[in-house]
Amino acid sequence: MSNGNSLVVVGAQWGDEGKGKVIDYLADKADLVARFQGGNNAGHTVVYGANIFKLHHVPSGILNEGTLCLLGNGMVVDPLVLVDELSELEKRGINTKGLRISSKAHLNMFYHRDLDEENEKLLGERKIGTTGRGIGPAYADKVMRRGIRAVDMVEFRTFRQRLEEILPLQNLILNKIYDHKGYDLEQLLDIYRPAVERLGPLVSDTSLILAESLQNGDKILFEGAQGALLDLDHGTYPYVTSSSTTAAAAASGNGIGPQHIDQVLGVIKAYTTRVGEGPFPTEDHSEAGAQLRERGNEFGTTTGRPRRCGWFDAVIARYAARINGLTGLAVTKLDVLSGMDTVKIGVSYDCEGSRAEIFPTSIEKLSKCSPVFETFPGWDEDISRARTIEDLPAAARHFLEVIEDRVGVRIELVSVGPDRSQTIIKDSSNLKRWHF
Ligand code: IMP
Repeated sequence: MSNGNSLVVVGAQWGDEGKGKVIDYLADKADLVARFQGGNNAGHTVVYGANIFKLHHVPSGILNEGTLCLLGNGMVVDPLVLVDELSELEKRGINTKGLRISSKAHLNMFYHRDLDEENEKLLGERKIGTTGRGIGPAYADKVMRRGIRAVDMVEFRTFRQRLEEILPLQNLILNKIYDHKGYDLEQLLDIYRPAVERLGPLVSDTSLILAESLQNGDKILFEGAQGALLDLDHGTYPYVTSSSTTAAAAASGNGIGPQHIDQVLGVIKAYTTRVGEGPFPTEDHSEAGAQLRERGNEFGTTTGRPRRCGWFDAVIARYAARINGLTGLAVTKLDVLSGMDTVKIGVSYDCEGSRAEIFPTSIEKLSKCSPVFETFPGWDEDISRARTIEDLPAAARHFLEVIEDRVGVRIELVSVGPDRSQTIIKDSSNLKRWHF
């Protein structure tokens, strides 16, 4: 049975919902934080006082001394990037000793990055708009049963042996399909050796660590990356990432049973953004969209790319609630809407003349849908110092009430700025075992 203390935090849009901030806030009280999918395509910016941390693999929980942080089996880990991330954290006085990597996590290698880039080039106008981090090819190799796993880093000779077996095929693909010269084994081994030796001791049976933690009644936080609409199965395929970003993957991506998931908090911005290609019904190409980008600083943490911006979309929020089993919402960046004359919520779609309340299953259909908006008066007040719902202007409170009503999920947390302190707990009934 569940210990009642586990919470999965997932993105409920196309990623970049501000999960890092929410997770950091909640991780403060967690005994263990585990990631379950993705890799360094994720980028969490965590602001803590005067410090800004940009994390890619490492869960935000690392900032809290004593919190155990796991990189689950569902992840693809780039050893070179992870080592840099750890060094950067250590340089800034963060203790990284609590990090463990699942022995079953797959490694995202140099050639995956090349394959990702080359594949995008080949797709031309039909490109996915990936982060270029090699995520798709790394997962493809896992599925093709020719990946290198974290367990292969425990001893350098095993790593050498695996690379010896795998590199000829990777080089062949690079040479023959992409006209890329490929890699020399010894050179690659030299590049990887320090990372493999640094990370090898962190490789563990993380499923067992979790099982023990569950048994102890620990507070466990599962940290999702990307968002519902980027899920490999349920997202806007093929404009998706290559992993399962929805809550159920917290179990399979960590080697625990689904009964151990107690609550699922969906993080959602008060507006919507997307990076990369693919349909985005509430996208705003006018001045309002540009304002959201500037005020919300909507530029990628990982790639620096400007994000496409638009209004809150209740259709995708309802869909995200369904496919994740959301038990609550965390609405972020409400402060970014301050100063807009009017604020809008897409409540349904007009799909070639017929009204759709339900998110279409194909992007062909989705791309023919335009949003039906409800428009509300905006507010001018700076809300970044609000600490309770009552501190918010009536128009902002009303906006939140409409979101709750149109999505059908309770808002538990509202974020009004990047700092931990800029957080309002709206409904503590579920979150109280976490923070109170
Ligand atoms: P990939 O994950 O690099 O393969 O990229 C596939 C799609 O997911 C692209 O549209 C990316 O922009 C998007 N994506 C991947 N990671 C993130 C993220 O952390 N935030 C937002 N979008 C992401």
